[in-house]
Amino acid sequence: MSYTFLRKLLFMLEAETAHTLASQSFETLASCLPASLRRMGVCEAPVEFKGIRFPNRLGLAAGFDKKGHFLCGAQALGFGFTEVGAVTPKGQPGHPKPRMWRYPEHRAVRNKMGFNNPGAWALARALSHRPSDFPVGINLGKNATTPLEKAGDDYQACLETLYGYADFFVVNVSSPNTEGLRNLQESGLDKLLSRLTQRSAELAEQFELKARPVLVKLSPDGPAESLSALAETALEAGIDGFVAANTTSKRDDQYALIPAEGGLSGPMLHDHAVDMVRELRQVAGSESLIIGCGGVRSPQTYQNFLDAGANLVQLYTGLVYEGPGLVRKILKQAAGYGRAQ
Ligand SMILES: Cc1cc2nc3c(=O)[nH]c(=O)nc-3n(C[C@H](O)[C@H](O)[C@H](O)COP(=O)(O)O)c2cc1C
Repeated sequence: MSYTFLRKLLFMLEAETAHTLASQSFETLASCLPASLRRMGVCEAPVEFKGIRFPNRLGLAAGFDKKGHFLCGAQALGFGFTEVGAVTPKGQPGHPKPRMWRYPEHRAVRNKMGFNNPGAWALARALSHRPSDFPVGINLGKNATTPLEKAGDDYQACLETLYGYADFFVVNVSSPNTEGLRNLQESGLDKLLSRLTQRSAELAEQFELKARPVLVKLSPDGPAESLSALAETALEAGIDGFVAANTTSKRDDQYALIPAEGGLSGPMLHDHAVDMVRELRQVAGSESLIIGCGGVRSPQTYQNFLDAGANLVQLYTGLVYEGPGLVRKILKQAAGYGRAQ
């Protein structure tokens, strides 16, 4: 069945219902396949960063799989890694539904999910069955009921519970859907990140594990002049890298009619996120792990992030509009099987 037809059917459903139906069905199919069949036709172009071997550079962005229930599915789509979560210490329902909307004329998605997730222990259980050859990152958040000044306790609790279950962690201080969360980018970021990077080193030693890299995910909405300062603060705190970027709260120009609540994702993020990656690479030097994310929907948009200095690239919204063939299409072209569009 062509994705154009399937998309018509899925778009008749409310966005979150369609997401759940499509992802659960695909995961059920993918998990029935032996690993060799699941990876058939997938572009393997292995790279290694921070001691992690990634089968290829394209990953599934945070938010698609909040429960760790789409690992075989992500692998079968052809991704080289996934980032699950955001996870919070206690499970929480998130904001009331509806909380996810599509804007086909902009190929965009708006969401105000609010970190709906089953909690750190449930995620640990789900990840205990993860495929061993598929890197998994965990996106860390805080519970809605935790006051901002105690946010560090939540991030640390998740890190401790999940340390042995992930290859890397991403500190999410950039979601627009948890009240005040983005303030953590402005004040106390140094303390928060130092605490988490130190705890990561201690946990590695305690459990005799390879130290898990800790990255920080940034908002695209900060003033441009503060990005370098923010990056320097994070690097001084011992952070291993960056994810740029999360969804935007801005509604510029042609997006002005889209309701203000929630974060917007898709093509409108792309150019700015690429600029952020370029600047982050300049500040961070060659050692940091930088993941570009925002509006990837074609081989060219994927390549833009790599050209700007990203080691890895992620996507989410592109999958909604372009369908499951997008991952293989991007990677095949990147491997030189096709011509740049
Ligand atoms: C429905 C939805 C839920 C999301 N949830 C999270 C989340 O929990 N944590 C996070 O860091 N980013 C979350 N994101 C942001 C994505 O990871 C990504 O940064 C953003 O969508 C930009 O990429 P895209 O244009 O390829 O979608 C979410 C995005 C969407 C659409």
